[in-house]
Amino acid sequence: MVKVAPSILSADFSRLGEEIEQIRLGGADYVHFDVMDGLFVPNISMGIPVLKSLRKATDMFLDVHLMIDRPARYVGAFCQAGADLLCFHVESDTRQGILDAMEETRALGKKVGVTLKPGTSEQELIPFLPLVDLVLVMTVEPGFGGQSFMEDQLPKIAAIRGMLDAVNPGCELEVDGGVDAQTAALCKQAGANVLVAGSAVFGAQDRVAAIEAIRLA
Ligand code: DX5
Ligand code: ZN
Repeated sequence: MVKVAPSILSADFSRLGEEIEQIRLGGADYVHFDVMDGLFVPNISMGIPVLKSLRKATDMFLDVHLMIDRPARYVGAFCQAGADLLCFHVESDTRQGILDAMEETRALGKKVGVTLKPGTSEQELIPFLPLVDLVLVMTVEPGFGGQSFMEDQLPKIAAIRGMLDAVNPGCELEVDGGVDAQTAALCKQAGANVLVAGSAVFGAQDRVAAIEAIRLA
């Protein structure tokens, strides 16, 4: 059974507590929290104070996707604010910078993920694969919700599943961007086991049904 991780980027921020409660009741597995700094991606979203408030409001697993430049600078702050997992973009720093960020995250007792933009080769993940709990494949250009799923990333999902089976079989494989009940089926066939969905969940009248449709696709 795949896990569903609604992205609160598409939620109503004035009612975030209620929005989270709805997806919890709807059976969501993780809350996907998108952090953007206006440098690494051309948009600014939310950060440490919002995460801290959310941590007080829910005991759900908080999956934090860091779309920020040189993320090692903020590992302590995000861990302290209540993240359960920090996911780092391979493009956001030098290899050593990312390794340092991962090591610090682990030392603080949190899970570690690695992710890549659509234009980045899966080969760039190789040094990180044995070290992570989750790999996130972006199926849109990071920065905005509501974009169309890039089907050309499906072979990459399958290739990464194969790479993980060889070096880190327990690692989760998450897909983010344009996931809905239709594209969810393609992601699963390619080997993904965690599906992020923003607009497909929070844009739906019936969030419970939307989560179920993605899970059962
Ligand atoms: C995009 C974010 C996604 C976004 C997905 O940069 O990383 O998590 O919220 O939104 P949808 O599901 O609408 O494509
Ligand atoms: Zn995301």
